[in-house]
Amino acid sequence: MNKKQRIGVFDSGIGGLNVLNNLVEQFPNEDFLYVGDNLNVPYGIKTEEELKEIISKIFRFFEEENVKAIIIACNTASAASMTLDCKVPVFRIIEPTAMNALKVSNNIGVLATNFTIESKAYDLYLKEKMKGIKASPFVTIVENDSIQEADSKKIIKDILLPYKDDVDTIILGCTHFSVLEEEVKNILGDVKIVDSCKAFSTILKDYLDENDLNNDSNDNRVVKILFTKEANINTKWFKYPFEGIEFVNIK
Ligand code: DGL
Repeated sequence: MNKKQRIGVFDSGIGGLNVLNNLVEQFPNEDFLYVGDNLNVPYGIKTEEELKEIISKIFRFFEEENVKAIIIACNTASAASMTLDCKVPVFRIIEPTAMNALKVSNNIGVLATNFTIESKAYDLYLKEKMKGIKASPFVTIVENDSIQEADSKKIIKDILLPYKDDVDTIILGCTHFSVLEEEVKNILGDVKIVDSCKAFSTILKDYLDENDLNNDSNDNRVVKILFTKEANINTKWFKYPFEGIEFVNIK
């Protein structure tokens, strides 16, 4: 590994761009390579076997691209990949998010994809302090940028309303859900929000510091964004300059 290598970040689509926002801001000298696997979105209703096959290919891709770390900017892929090997250090989103939630509450609703909830990956850390809320339909709403449409509002309300006054904190346990904070608060009232998109700041910093891998100077930092299927990609939530979008076939 060396300081000049890029950091790989991936998600099933645009949700991980919310993670990339935080990383790009916090690590101004680092170059990033983002993969949005929109060919396979949504991950959250796939089987573990399907997800492992998809994620293994993305790990091999990042190994070949010679990144110095892989950030799984996706709760579902983090839950599904626990036993997968990779030559590059891999950082998963669930443990640090759960630890952030325990700092603020013992009565937590975990809003995540069906796969993440069924995998019980959050239960491992939160045990009886959490209730799982399966919300895979929200992923499609965010990918389609249809949050403000009446049908979407109804779906969001129907899934969330049963938890009103039942939990005092919500983990946005899917990186697509970062942009739904306002909708969650409108329906559930004054709940505290723990956003999984903010999980990586400390662990990535510690890894770079401990291994002397900080890119010390970078006058022309590069953020490259790849998607796995040609489509009209909605990057409106990504706040920083990037090199344009390219499409890549990951086999
Ligand atoms: N954004 C992903 C997550 O954090 C998954 C969304 C999906 O493709 O189902 O779980």
